[in-house]
Amino acid sequence: MSTASKPKSPATQQLIPLSAPEISGNEWKYVKECLDTGWVSSVGPFVERFEAAVADFVGTKFAVATVNGTSAIHIALKIAGIEAGDEVLIAAITFIAPANAIRYLGAYPVFVDAEPNYWQMDPEKVSEFLNNSCEMRNGALYNSNTDRRVKAIVPVHVLGHPVDLDPILEIARKFNLAVVEDATESLGAKYRGRKVGNLGQIACFSFNGNKIITTGGGGMIVTNDEAWARQAKYLTTQAKDDPLEYIHNEVGYNYRLTNLLAAMGCAQMELLPSFIERKREIASRYAKQLGEIPGISIMPEAPWAFSTHWLYTVLIEAQVFGMDSRALLRLLAKENVQSRPLWQPLHRSQALKDSGEFTCPIADRLNRDAISLPCSAGLSNGDLQVVIDVVASAAASRH
Ligand SMILES: Cc1ncc(COP(=O)(O)O)c(C=O)c1O
Repeated sequence: MSTASKPKSPATQQLIPLSAPEISGNEWKYVKECLDTGWVSSVGPFVERFEAAVADFVGTKFAVATVNGTSAIHIALKIAGIEAGDEVLIAAITFIAPANAIRYLGAYPVFVDAEPNYWQMDPEKVSEFLNNSCEMRNGALYNSNTDRRVKAIVPVHVLGHPVDLDPILEIARKFNLAVVEDATESLGAKYRGRKVGNLGQIACFSFNGNKIITTGGGGMIVTNDEAWARQAKYLTTQAKDDPLEYIHNEVGYNYRLTNLLAAMGCAQMELLPSFIERKREIASRYAKQLGEIPGISIMPEAPWAFSTHWLYTVLIEAQVFGMDSRALLRLLAKENVQSRPLWQPLHRSQALKDSGEFTCPIADRLNRDAISLPCSAGLSNGDLQVVIDVVASAAASRH
């Protein structure tokens, strides 16, 4: 089919969602098992089974399920030693959740611009900040401008693509900083053959409704450190020191995932390899057909990366394409195709203004030009072609 063929009229076409759950395995069966046995709450066999499945897939020794990805990051940062007044390096272009988790602890995010080719946290910018804006005092690193202690780096693997992590791990070792991976968007992605989530000291996943697998809402902390895993379980279950006598020596959190949702997670984990395969197929079809259109830059995959292409995203160069990303978004919406821009860069967020002033031109450009297109694992080839045709005819109409 020609890429410029006329799209179906919206009246005859159902909404094509951006990233919808694909519930096509044992979800009903496993959830029914919970209902039939009464194991519906935060204790039950599916919780442990889901934890084991994720640990096994990622290759870490331990996994602790949580109520969502944000709580997973909150606890992982706490375990990594982040305290009030500390600073933590984080990508400028990401969903706000990891920055919020830093703020929950009273710490401050330091925004690192994206690398222009792969859109991930730029290792050179990390190095520039640590080497030029920080100083060691009594074995601890301080930001010379704010006088705050710098404790950790949070590489956020955005959109299913890994961060270039080796240089970040190396500089983190040099300055004795913890590396807490936010792998929430990238379950299944690999960096130089190694799965994300098993590259730093501790990592987090999300199973929110739009993620590659979903439990409706849920998260996971993974680590190879037994003491940290124990601490994660302890803190996410209200820090019970003696569950019988209700003794608590620390403030804990009710962050455990329920058996019901873990049951869904177990079924989704069985489907994950097929989801990754389908997402990559969708990405390669988009790349082939949209890559021919002037003014569109297709979603990158670095030579050292295996991307899941979790949320398929392209850049629109308005002058060449003939309209900007927001105009294309409105046009897609008219054709019943759901799309969205990337997040407001965090250095521009009023919610995070206490972090100070940052200049992140690549993040700004990504925010201006990026548009994410439908890429659910259950997307049919027919619907995929409808999306491609709408974009292609938008371009054709302007030339
Ligand atoms: C980069 C990033 N971090 C953290 C989260 C938080 O996960 P959750 O929505 O499960 O709390 C999300 C997604 O929602 C995310 O995209």
